[in-house]
Amino acid sequence: MTRVVLATAYGGPEVLTVADRPVGEPGPGQARVAVRAAGVNPADWKSYTGAFGTDPAALPKRLGFEVSGVVTAVGPDAAVAVGDEVIGFRVSGGYAAELVVPTSALVPKPASLGWEQAAGLMLTGATAVHALTATGVGAGDTVLVHGAAGGVGLMAVQLAVLRGARVVGTVGGDGADLVRRLGGEPVRYGDGLADRVRAAAPDGVDAALDLVGSDEAVDVSLELVADRQRIATIAAFGRAAADGIRALGGGPGANPGTELRDAARTELAGLAGDGRLEVVVAGVFPLEEVAAAHRQGMAGHSHGKLVLVPW
Ligand SMILES: NC(=O)c1ccc[n+]([C@@H]2O[C@H](COP(=O)([O-])OP(=O)(O)OC[C@H]3O[C@@H](n4cnc5c(N)ncnc54)[C@H](OP(=O)(O)O)[C@@H]3O)[C@@H](O)[C@H]2O)c1
Repeated sequence: MTRVVLATAYGGPEVLTVADRPVGEPGPGQARVAVRAAGVNPADWKSYTGAFGTDPAALPKRLGFEVSGVVTAVGPDAAVAVGDEVIGFRVSGGYAAELVVPTSALVPKPASLGWEQAAGLMLTGATAVHALTATGVGAGDTVLVHGAAGGVGLMAVQLAVLRGARVVGTVGGDGADLVRRLGGEPVRYGDGLADRVRAAAPDGVDAALDLVGSDEAVDVSLELVADRQRIATIAAFGRAAADGIRALGGGPGANPGTELRDAARTELAGLAGDGRLEVVVAGVFPLEEVAAAHRQGMAGHSHGKLVLVPW
């Protein structure tokens, strides 16, 4: 048996509970992983708050798409060995003390990377790689990143800078220092945003990433970026369809980019392992305090990753 987080109904974080469930033996091409840390993402709470539907047959729900941990057992033909330190992405039910995953979901954890950082690297990192690739961001570009101090935003800022781009990133206030430290130029979102971006980037903006999903982010992107194919959103799927900008991820009409995101794992592990990409951890919670972690995340102003640890 192992401890897992379950959403037992649709609703707020009060529907979350920790229960014992059988962990099972790994089958062919599978491994069992003792979880050291699990990354928290907005998709986790969206899965039980009703944002993705309220099918009663899908309850109770396991949560968690990314973990770091140690391989404790392997099935036939497994590509990993007992004792390997790994990052699992994309996994299903990662909010657990132990779980069985396909070995195709595992990449080696760089020894230099902490468990909590490793658990928070992949979902946001792969999303940021997808967004930068889809909009063709490269050397010499100026890119506007909406939501620069969030989980995906901090990855996008750093990865864009590594590609040789100049980054103007929107923040609500106290994320400014963090965005600046990681190589971006913060501007405050809210009324007058387009003018503040023009002042920060008088030669113009080549591409924009909406990592928030607000009308303001889409409207300002449309106002400042001439080529709509160089504007991407990971959250405003309705606006993407209406305005002809790129929609990325799991939303309606969006490009999931599965192959590109899977391929990005190796690059992300390499960059984080050699210290060129920082995973900012904004909070660490024991598994039993998952509801508190989600309440903090749902408030919408985290600066970095929230992480669960199973003890
Ligand atoms: N499609 C995909 O593949 C995909 C993948 C990952 C995430 N997502 C979605 O993308 C969104 C962000 O995810 P995340 O993990 O980065 O979330 P997060 O870590 O919770 O970050 C949210 C950030 O948004 C900023 N923010 C809040 N209101 C804002 C506003 N009105 N304008 C500009 N910034 C604002 C906050 O910064 P301040 O404190 O500065 O306000 C906060 O740092 C979520 O909706 C998530 O579901 C989609």
